[in-house]
Amino acid sequence: MNHEQSENLSGGADIAFSYAPGKIILSGEHAVVYGCPAIAATLDRGVRIAVQSRKSDQKGPVLKASGLGFTGHVRPDPDGEGPEVLRGALARLIELYGDRVCDLELMADSAIPAGRGLGSSAALSVAMIRGLHRFFEEAVSPEVVAELALALEKVFHGNPSGIDHTVISQGGLIWYKKNSSELRVEKIIPKRAMHFAVGLTGPHAGTKQAVQALRSRASRHETLYQHIFAGISQIATEMRLAISEGKLAAVGELMNLNQGYLNALSVSTPELEKLCTMAREKGALGAKLTGAGGGGAVIALVDDDPKPIVNAFVKAGYLSFATKCETE
Ligand code: PMV
Repeated sequence: MNHEQSENLSGGADIAFSYAPGKIILSGEHAVVYGCPAIAATLDRGVRIAVQSRKSDQKGPVLKASGLGFTGHVRPDPDGEGPEVLRGALARLIELYGDRVCDLELMADSAIPAGRGLGSSAALSVAMIRGLHRFFEEAVSPEVVAELALALEKVFHGNPSGIDHTVISQGGLIWYKKNSSELRVEKIIPKRAMHFAVGLTGPHAGTKQAVQALRSRASRHETLYQHIFAGISQIATEMRLAISEGKLAAVGELMNLNQGYLNALSVSTPELEKLCTMAREKGALGAKLTGAGGGGAVIALVDDDPKPIVNAFVKAGYLSFATKCETE
């Protein structure tokens, strides 16, 4: 189900349903934190939420999580249950919506592998906000969804660039650039559909940690890192044009170049490099890690059918699935 279809699900007073997809970054992760442009697209899998009145008489809202890197009940009280970060997200919902959230039960089911740079926390944030607004029968604009989702994303990621929750709340493929003076979010319409194989290594150590470690490395070699970020910006600029013109071989080459820079930034790992090499040997037009790196996922662009690469990843012992960006 895509974003547009999910908007048609009507919530009632008894139960409301919502959905938000995961995401991949085609170019510009990490550099985007320093004000460089990046390109991101939604996945065709995501997080589903059902919101209803709480059945038990225990105090506070309950999140019943499945597939969010944790399966079980989450309660925000100081001595509550569940991982700290999910408890923090529920506590933030109370700050945002007030005590009326305390009477609710949110059931979340995620098909996005958690901690792999595929936007599971941003999808959870957007889906929870959409679900609550449907439950309360309060209309909300996509801009306000994005603003509220950012408040939740900060619980998960500290000070994110905002690319994850922006692409997830808008849907499709976007060009994203944010610095102190401007925020530019522009839709990109691919001339040709783009098919990807996604290969998964183990979970990464966390986006916040990866961003902080890179900042510390960059502070020791500022000029060199500025050159790398300028190179990544140029890749995103050329990639945007290549996507709009349907030049997929060029998009693939640019992904390979971006991967080279990500390796130079020390956010790649031997396993991520192995999956990129494997995909290229199997005929991918290009391959790179996606998201914060240090583990997580690789995306490989193919001309047509991603199955041979998905099968090669699985045969080598890695979870894998296919996804695509449609033309419109
Ligand atoms: O949370 P991830 O793994 O999808 O990474 C997000 C992209 C980064 O550029 C690494 C961080 C950010 O805030 O943009």
